[in-house]
Amino acid sequence: MDFGFRRALTAAANEGPRPQLITVVSRQFVLQSAILAFACATGAHAEDAVSKHELQGKLAYCENCHGVAAQGFHGYYPIPRLAGQQPEYLKNQVQAFVERRRTNNIMFNVAHVLSPAMLSALADSFHDLNPKPLTSTAPNELVAAGKKIYEEGLPDRDVPPCASCHGPDAKGDGQFPRLAGQLPDYIFNKLKNWDKERGQDPAKPDTSTIMQPITHNLTDQQIKAVAAYLNQLE
Ligand code: HEC
Ligand code: HEC
Repeated sequence: MDFGFRRALTAAANEGPRPQLITVVSRQFVLQSAILAFACATGAHAEDAVSKHELQGKLAYCENCHGVAAQGFHGYYPIPRLAGQQPEYLKNQVQAFVERRRTNNIMFNVAHVLSPAMLSALADSFHDLNPKPLTSTAPNELVAAGKKIYEEGLPDRDVPPCASCHGPDAKGDGQFPRLAGQLPDYIFNKLKNWDKERGQDPAKPDTSTIMQPITHNLTDQQIKAVAAYLNQLE
């Protein structure tokens, strides 16, 4: 987690002066680390409170929408893959839905009834799942263009390499989400709607500010390419 964060700051710093972003982000990280440390300290006891039976029931409930083995699901709109997701990222997003830092009414309703112990148990269970990505039909040239953006960024558009934060295999780390195997239309929708959905509580700036400038600097075609590349990574 630490290595990615440092890179995030370095990347942000290299792009020119964004002192405000950096202060907000680092302040938030200190805060979040404190909260996480607290959650870890209390989690050990709370974990015992979730029975295997309760956990299985809840997992099945999540998979109703998130697909078999949480590999994602294409319904009326794409529902993201949770399999292999970083537990820290997953827990933070669920908390963000509850606090309406991230807007989504469906997930608000799902999330606000989860106990911290259940949430931790779910996050660990999803992390352990490893199904193949839902099949992609993206043409090869799009995948190749996406790989280049992922690994090298777009220096002329002020976009750092995605790999510098999301990892060389797109497996993520801590607060940096896994992107490997994610549904391409989900990725597209998220990057296009970032400003409307993430970081919605000005009183609680969060890790979503790290991605924000990047989402502004990608064209639709570039997003489609990088999403096609990510979708086929296992
Ligand atoms: C009724 C359908 C439904 C159910 C049940 C459901 N989800 Fe979701 N979930 C969604 C949708 C839709 C999204 C996408 C929200 C968006 O586009 O921002 C989502 C997004 C998420 C995300 C964000 C993923 C990311 O990559 O940022 C997490 C985490 C999540 N759900 C966890 C859960 C957990 C844990 C459960 C079970 C307790 C669950 N969901 C049950 C519909 C559902
Ligand atoms: C400076 C670090 C950094 C770089 C570089 C970066 N990201 Fe991110 N990205 C993050 C962080 C942190 C998050 C989690 C945001 C949050 O907490 O809401 C994220 C979230 C995302 C999400 C949302 C995932 C989900 O499941 O909803 C997508 C998609 C994404 N990044 C794609 C990319 C792509 C594509 C690139 C390269 C063009 C990229 N990122 C470059 C740090 C970075």
